[in-house]
Amino acid sequence: MPFIADRLSRIKPSPTIAVSTKAAELKAAGRDVIGLGAGEPDFDTPDPIKAAAKAAIDAGATKYTPVAGTMELRKAVCAKFKRDNGLEYTPEQIQVACGGKQNIYNAMMATLNPGDEVIIPAPYWVSYPDITLLAEGVPVIVDCPVEAGFKLTPDALEAAITPKTKWLILNSPSNPTGAAYSRDEMKALTDVVMKHAHVWIMSDDMYEHIVYDDFEFVTPAQVEPKLYERTLTLNGVSKAYCMTGWRVGYAAGAVDLIKAMNKVQSQSTTHTSSISQAAAVEALNGDQDFIAKNNAAFKGRRDLVVKMINEAEGLSCPTPEGAFYVYPGCAGVIGKSTPDGKVIGSDADFVTYLLEAEGIAAVHGEAFGLSPYFRISYAVSNAVLSDACTRIQRACAALK
Ligand SMILES: Cc1ncc(COP(=O)(O)O)c(C=O)c1O
Repeated sequence: MPFIADRLSRIKPSPTIAVSTKAAELKAAGRDVIGLGAGEPDFDTPDPIKAAAKAAIDAGATKYTPVAGTMELRKAVCAKFKRDNGLEYTPEQIQVACGGKQNIYNAMMATLNPGDEVIIPAPYWVSYPDITLLAEGVPVIVDCPVEAGFKLTPDALEAAITPKTKWLILNSPSNPTGAAYSRDEMKALTDVVMKHAHVWIMSDDMYEHIVYDDFEFVTPAQVEPKLYERTLTLNGVSKAYCMTGWRVGYAAGAVDLIKAMNKVQSQSTTHTSSISQAAAVEALNGDQDFIAKNNAAFKGRRDLVVKMINEAEGLSCPTPEGAFYVYPGCAGVIGKSTPDGKVIGSDADFVTYLLEAEGIAAVHGEAFGLSPYFRISYAVSNAVLSDACTRIQRACAALK
């Protein structure tokens, strides 16, 4: 009898973390590698946030906090929802966790019975299907082709709903495509959910603040107030506040759901670090101006990467509305041969070739549920990005 539990055989380790680890190993071994796999901003955490953490240590905020998070942080989260999204929540409707990923894990563990279905539009963030499977749910993957802007359409949603559907996951702006729903597109989806009283929405708004060209971010509970009770809104400080390592995410929803999620968390991590929570209070309540500055840098990089990838033979790169990823199509290189005679049969082969030939670490589209594509994270300097794109162009030109 194997010692490792069967449930582990249903899931795989995060492929995006695997790519970053591989790139770091190759770099440590002396290879000239550019990592475009990481899902985190290259900017440092702003100083006032760091200062708040140091002050919290000195003030003795070093003890256990409530499972759901400190009252101060939950109040700051409520104020954020009011300020940014026009949504009213009370602190008992908020859960703070060790990153947005743990909020999702808590929600799935708290709600899914074996066989319950979770609708996941593809391309998706890699963790949604695996967390669903760990919680004994069934991921229902709905393809969202590039022709639909990588977005779920009302018809495709309607067709995916069954009596067993529990959740619809929406992620706007999206990891891995950067695609984001306009108010009209979101309303068309919430209209469908309104017709199915048993379906709840899990809205992952992690990239809310990283949008370009005056794009107006919207979240489902704001677009359709009648779905407020059936929507779990997820967000966090990891991306916009450059705090990936601090591990703070938060969720807002119905009191009973949050209570159930707290029960799960109380038997796992208890809560995230008291110091990180103090830092997150400063992030949410303090000066927000650096977000616009970071976005201006991200936008310049987005424009650079879209232009240069579109110049590469066999690749085509849509312009995303937000986040710091592009998701270029690589259908034009499939079937071609590398200089050493290997045939590129899939997007996985293509990213392996990019790594071997030019030291570029990107993530194959198959990991995100839609091929043949690959994901580039452009959270690197313009100089590095330009070098990386030149190498990708050269790699494509060398294919026969
Ligand atoms: C769409 C999406 N949701 C949630 C998360 C989780 O973020 P955290 O680092 O706060 O757990 C990520 C991180 O990559 C993400 O891309």
